[in-house]
Amino acid sequence: MKKSNASYGDEGFSEFLKMAFRRHLGHDEEDYAKPVVGISNTFSEVNRCHSHIQPMVEAIKQGIIMEGGTPLEFPIMSVGEMFTSPTTMLYRNLVAMDTEEMITAQPIDGTVLIGGCDKMAPAQLMGAASADKPAILFTGGPMNNGKYKGKTLGACSDCRFYWQEYKAGTVDEKEINEINKQLAPTAGHCMVMGSASTIAACSEALGMMLPGGAAAPATYNERMHMARETGREIVRLVKKDIKPSDIMTTKAFENAIKVLMAIGGSTNTVIHLTAMAKRLGITLNLDQFERISKETPFIANMRPAGKYQMEDLYHAGGIPAVLKELEPLLNENEITVTGKTVKENLSSVTIEEVYRDIVKPLDDPLHADGGIAVLKGNLSPNGSIIKPKAVIDKTLVKHKGKAVVFNSLEDMEARVNDPDLEVTKDSVLVLQNAGPVGAPGMPEAGMIPIPGKLLKQGVRDMVRLSDCRMSGTAFGTVILHVAPEAAIGGPIGLIKDGDEIELDIENRILNLDVSDAELEKRKQNWNKPTFDEDRGYKWLYRKHVLQADEGCDFDFM
Ligand code: FES
Repeated sequence: MKKSNASYGDEGFSEFLKMAFRRHLGHDEEDYAKPVVGISNTFSEVNRCHSHIQPMVEAIKQGIIMEGGTPLEFPIMSVGEMFTSPTTMLYRNLVAMDTEEMITAQPIDGTVLIGGCDKMAPAQLMGAASADKPAILFTGGPMNNGKYKGKTLGACSDCRFYWQEYKAGTVDEKEINEINKQLAPTAGHCMVMGSASTIAACSEALGMMLPGGAAAPATYNERMHMARETGREIVRLVKKDIKPSDIMTTKAFENAIKVLMAIGGSTNTVIHLTAMAKRLGITLNLDQFERISKETPFIANMRPAGKYQMEDLYHAGGIPAVLKELEPLLNENEITVTGKTVKENLSSVTIEEVYRDIVKPLDDPLHADGGIAVLKGNLSPNGSIIKPKAVIDKTLVKHKGKAVVFNSLEDMEARVNDPDLEVTKDSVLVLQNAGPVGAPGMPEAGMIPIPGKLLKQGVRDMVRLSDCRMSGTAFGTVILHVAPEAAIGGPIGLIKDGDEIELDIENRILNLDVSDAELEKRKQNWNKPTFDEDRGYKWLYRKHVLQADEGCDFDFM
């Protein structure tokens, strides 16, 4: 079962040397005859969403030992969305490489991957998929609900909502500071159905996490119990030699996409699932996401598109309850990290009627179709995406307006609140050069701020489009991931102030009302941007990152 991990051209000597250097852990030869399980510990104080996980790592170790394995904990690069500039997405592929190389290089038979904040789980699943040794994902869990004056607060939908109100002048300095204290009230990752919660939910649906692993809050006893059980399960998985490639099949990815659509999950997950699948030689394209979205009812009433948060979903039965309701649509024979099939995992799951406002019945959903739509047209030949159910001003779902163009993040920041900016509520705000290559890393700036003067007039939503991403916690009529991006010559980079742009979500249209001849002329005059880096990770990233519709992994992976 153990893969050879020899060096020095003499396997016997390698083992002799390893044993000599392991003894300081109190281990002896017997410990290494057992399944040896790595724990890719992503504890970090700069990744706030993972700062509480050390006791959980200890519980995972307990579980491994109880089941007859030997745990070996090691660190992995750990980045949190709020503290990392310009975005953790820039580093997702680096974490994936770190994870793959550690799993491959170390003398371990399987790994527990510790996820949580947005990019950590997909990065580690990408790495584990390439390494292809048995692996289970465990996360530190979501925060508890925040509370302010009797209202539930969610990080970070309400961070954005109240900041917008503060800028509009409807919330004062004192109140915004009070709200700030309650937005992230406990340990854990963001607790609305943002990117962290969505990727955890999809990992459960994919079969790479224990049933119930996504929703149990970071502070609940259940989270510690889940940690111990994860430790036990990875040892069983190693003994059965069930690998990520046995679990993450094409049909399992279809299950994950169905859950993504049914929970109104984060648009970022489209990129991550595509990248994870690619590591296993499975091609996911935007047409598949669109088809599955049309076929999958939206049943989980979760913010930002719905009403509830992860703590509520946990009480309603978590992702197993969502899967149970979706069961007729799922590929039920896929194997999971429990060693059982999806069908077997769901055999004892029930949904209590009292929680029916959180997980709706399949025949009485919140919406007949899923939470993400794929738009096409001359503005995004390779696709772009939008969350139709997160639109605030429903009159904007079919809209024509004149472009107000910002040619970079810096340009946007400098001008969006300029009182002299020529903009109306019907304008379409365009952000260029913020894509995978352009920014680099596609920062979460897609929810372009409503210009200050319009906020003061009561405007709370506008059509906005960009080649970057938005946080899964964000909302509004926001078109994202426009591909190809501006920095590599995509049509989004050719838009000029005053061009008319047409959005028709129902018919999935995003068009730039400029003739082909004029666009060709602009293309001839387009100057490819130059970048400062001539060395290092950012240089490598810009040179090799793929576009959003291809998952933004490196082209050499
Ligand atoms: Fe870590 Fe939101 S900042 S999940």
